[in-house]
Amino acid sequence: MKYYITTPLYYVNDIPHIGHAYTTIAGDAMARYKRLCGYDVLFTTGTDEHGQKIELEAQKRRIHPKELTSTMQERFRVLWNKLSISHDDFIRTSEERHKVASQAFFEKLYKNGDIYYGVYDGPYCIHCESYAREDICPSCGRETSLLSSPTYYFNLSKYKDRLLSFFKDSPDFIMPSFRLQEMVNMVESKEFSDLSITRETTKWGIPVPIPSSSAIIYVWFEALTNYLTCVGWPDDKDKFEKYWPCDLHLVGKDILRFHSITWPCMLFACGIAPPKRVFAHGWWNIKGEKMSKSKGNVVSPEILCDDVGTDCLRYFLLRDLTFGLDGDFSYDNLINRLNSDLVNDLGNLVSRTLVMVNKYLDGRVPPKGKEDRLSSLAQECFQKMDDDFENLRFNAWLEKVWSFINECNRYIDQEKPWTISDKERLYSVLYSLLEALRYIAGFILPIMPNTSKEILKQLGADKEFSLSSFKWGLLLEKTKISLGEHLFTRKSI
Ligand code: ME8
Ligand code: MG
Repeated sequence: MKYYITTPLYYVNDIPHIGHAYTTIAGDAMARYKRLCGYDVLFTTGTDEHGQKIELEAQKRRIHPKELTSTMQERFRVLWNKLSISHDDFIRTSEERHKVASQAFFEKLYKNGDIYYGVYDGPYCIHCESYAREDICPSCGRETSLLSSPTYYFNLSKYKDRLLSFFKDSPDFIMPSFRLQEMVNMVESKEFSDLSITRETTKWGIPVPIPSSSAIIYVWFEALTNYLTCVGWPDDKDKFEKYWPCDLHLVGKDILRFHSITWPCMLFACGIAPPKRVFAHGWWNIKGEKMSKSKGNVVSPEILCDDVGTDCLRYFLLRDLTFGLDGDFSYDNLINRLNSDLVNDLGNLVSRTLVMVNKYLDGRVPPKGKEDRLSSLAQECFQKMDDDFENLRFNAWLEKVWSFINECNRYIDQEKPWTISDKERLYSVLYSLLEALRYIAGFILPIMPNTSKEILKQLGADKEFSLSSFKWGLLLEKTKISLGEHLFTRKSI
């Protein structure tokens, strides 16, 4: 069982912001969930380093693009480390392996007759690195510039019908499904025409593998190919066979069309199966406007992470917004969630329980008692886990987990262990609470890996957690628990 999941490759014209962190954290949660289920996961991310946008930014800073890209990609790596991202590969499009794959891909399409020579004469949006039809870019609203140049074209329009029937036959390909119609409209519109895939004037890129040409490959055309580079295409056949087709490309809605239209057609032309699914999530906005580098309204993930901690930030991003929809970023919401969901609900449940086990049982797990309300609630919750993750409903999942956490707190308030004189009953209640904590650690593992680990450590149950760990009664009698520091620290706004 394999699972191949990717994030976009982020442009390195500037440092990462919360939007980039968002996609990558969601990818990480999914990758960790699939590992928990026993899949052999390949989770890739990286940086998109070529093209005019990067070249211009380097010029502006009076440095070589190599210097810009190497400094910036490091910022992404450091951030992913800070956010506990568990990627298996970090690809830079400036790497040799990617040049090899992109050129091989280009050559293959050229030989198949899907690439031809012509002239491009029309508007181009440097910011989006994409062709436009008007003076104003339909994607970002910026002014486009005129591009007039000989170029190689990819015969995209040839694949129109095949793409439309692929959409029909694979209803789960585009997610959320409400975005499908938008893509269909695009394919059926005039915008769907052959794609200019080389650049004469930009120097910073991968050379077109045709001896008579001194052009470079259009940045999107090679950046998309990274998903093949990462599985060893074209040379490592074993790796390719093992991981392709990709199970999930995770992207923001801004680049869905490249992934759900251009990319499958490129693969059709190359004789490679299309990916199984593309999920486009929404945008984090600031006062209703998209957060973006160029608008200067970005929120720094580093600062937030130092402020509230990695797991809190991960929790907040996946909890506060329905994955797939847009939402406004609010610092107050972040702090409220920290104080109420994490400090009050989860943090207190863990410390209340462990304090009682210390006090009444000298810090040892009691014998397994009668199964009760908590065991059935825990099992019920677990039954829903797969469906929520499979459909990337992170916030719905966290809501379920938190209602279980709240049930556990209520259980303590109702059972009042400090009033129970019957030892057997007291032990049974405490055992239930400890097992519930172990389940909770498993439930939050994909999203809050560090907290999960800490809870398991405190429970003395820090063996690797897998699907088979979701079985009531696995916590062994007499195991020594270790009450640690509070898991989270309250903050004022
Ligand atoms: O498009 N809210 O790179 P990019 C949520 N290099 N997510 C956001 C966001 C926001 N406000 N802003 C950015 C590129 N993102 C290309 C991709 S793939 C082969 C090449 C996230 O640096 C979201 O995932 O502009 C979006 O799709 C991505 O960053 C765009 O990153
Ligand atoms: Mg962008």
